[in-house]
Amino acid sequence: MDQIVNVVGVGGSSRPGSTAEKALRVVLDAAQRRGAAVQLISGPALAMPLYDPRHGATAPQARRLLAAVAGADALVLASPAYHGGISGLVKNALDHVEELSEDIRPYFSERAVGCVAVANGWQGAVSTLAALRDVTHALRGWPTPLGAAINTSAARFSPAGACMDAHVQGQLEEMAAQVVEFATMRALATSRAQSAR
Ligand SMILES: Cc1cc2nc3c(=O)[nH]c(=O)nc-3n(C[C@H](O)[C@H](O)[C@H](O)COP(=O)(O)O)c2cc1C
Repeated sequence: MDQIVNVVGVGGSSRPGSTAEKALRVVLDAAQRRGAAVQLISGPALAMPLYDPRHGATAPQARRLLAAVAGADALVLASPAYHGGISGLVKNALDHVEELSEDIRPYFSERAVGCVAVANGWQGAVSTLAALRDVTHALRGWPTPLGAAINTSAARFSPAGACMDAHVQGQLEEMAAQVVEFATMRALATSRAQSAR
């Protein structure tokens, strides 16, 4: 089966080229090398009004995010640690996923989700990674076995985009392998179930 899977990366900060965005790009580039189609929603594309369940997703950025998530076969989330948790920018974007509660695959259902947290120290990196994995569970996604907690005081990215800490770079590439593998297995299982009908 030669099915191309769509991997969507969501995260970063309002600053284009933030460390979380760089980490996302490493995962997406590695997924692309594994044959996936990739899409990044980061920086200004995440700037949308505060989610209000009474009004839904009206802003173009919100609609684009929801279309990308609905069409994704796998996701990668990345947030900086802000005061020990997910940044407001990223959490607000994730709150908008409530609009997919009635989708054919509600929220993140049936999909692997890689989670990456970036902080200036280990404590914030680890607590933010745990929060991203909790949100993924709440949205019915499958957090990949490997999550990445990146301490930017110990691991920096080169101008070319790679993480100069080989261990972190390897973790981000392994996360790409895990989301692509899970998405490919799901696609295969779905196509077998359809042909058995
Ligand atoms: C409002 C704010 C809160 C932050 N809180 C934390 C924190 O609790 N723990 C931590 O390690 N770093 C904290 N940081 C640092 C960011 O996590 C760090 O700058 C970021 O991960 C690096 O990404 P950048 O390239 O986007 O700056 C905070 C930064 C800001 C702006």
